[in-house]
Amino acid sequence: MTAEATSRVSSEREHYYKQIDRESMTPLWEVLHSVVTPEPITPCVPHLWKWDVCRPWLEKAGELITAKEAERRVLVLENPGLRGQIRITHSLYAGLQLILPGEVAPAHRHSQSALRFILNGSGAYTAVDGEKVTMNVGDFVITPSWSFHDHGNPSSEPMVWLDGLDVPIVELFDAQFMERGAEDSQHTGTDGTINLAEFGNTMKPVEYKPRSKTSPLFWYPYDRTREALETMKRQSPMHDCWAFKLQYTNPVTGDWAMPTIGTFMQLMPAGFKGKAYRSTDSTVYAVVEGTGRCVVGDQTLTFGPKDVFVVPSWMPYHFEIDGDDAVVFSFSDRPVQQALDLWREKIG
Ligand SMILES: [Fe+2]
Repeated sequence: MTAEATSRVSSEREHYYKQIDRESMTPLWEVLHSVVTPEPITPCVPHLWKWDVCRPWLEKAGELITAKEAERRVLVLENPGLRGQIRITHSLYAGLQLILPGEVAPAHRHSQSALRFILNGSGAYTAVDGEKVTMNVGDFVITPSWSFHDHGNPSSEPMVWLDGLDVPIVELFDAQFMERGAEDSQHTGTDGTINLAEFGNTMKPVEYKPRSKTSPLFWYPYDRTREALETMKRQSPMHDCWAFKLQYTNPVTGDWAMPTIGTFMQLMPAGFKGKAYRSTDSTVYAVVEGTGRCVVGDQTLTFGPKDVFVVPSWMPYHFEIDGDDAVVFSFSDRPVQQALDLWREKIG
């Protein structure tokens, strides 16, 4: 084709694109190869939020606005590759929530499922559908979809936890509902240990019938998780990539604890140097104990306790642990990807 002919075809096409644009149509052939790609391409980038950097900003937020006024006093951890989109990965939201002594974050419920992972303080509570649990560092707490929940801090120290929600997933389906409670604090008749007694001992009340896909156990205390990992360290073979890793489960079904968010805790012993790993579920990590590095592509994220970092989909990464054992919590959209036959992983 001559240069003149090429120019004419190009001009005709542009004219055609403008015409069909008015009819809300667009040519697939111009975008096909950016949509259907040989491997995942994500704008999500690796990033680390250091506790020492975040803590003063949280304290400042505590001076600027009350928990009641804010409804939830949260600093969203926004992925630098997804600014303005209120998310830490393409599919998940994360934020750091602060509740000062004496404060209450009032009751509400919404379609979005939430997890709390406690980073700082002890003694604050979350009430879920009238049941209350007291939270401590390293505890994993679930507020299931469409369950009333409020938080309060009767302790004498500020409480900070990592919130993880499936906000972008619910938004994708346009299935979001929200409702405020009649009162700020729910009336709770339990002392916070009944949920663990009923569902935390690989047993269940004999008359129990599941009401949703979310685990009826909504409080997973750190001391039990830590003890399990310590026992595994002594007696189980160590995985080359993640050392010793447990997945939180629904104790009644054995499935994921939450239908949209997979949650994990892993112990990596002092001096551990993991092999490279990648998976299609972009993953958020929160450090409980120990220090080390997560090497993601050509970036090194140097982490310590209470730090949060994110590893994007299909980007190879490995861990290097310093002189003490490291214990690290993580969450991702793996249950959704597996339910849809999309999830892949690669070791090495
Ligand atoms: Fe909420």
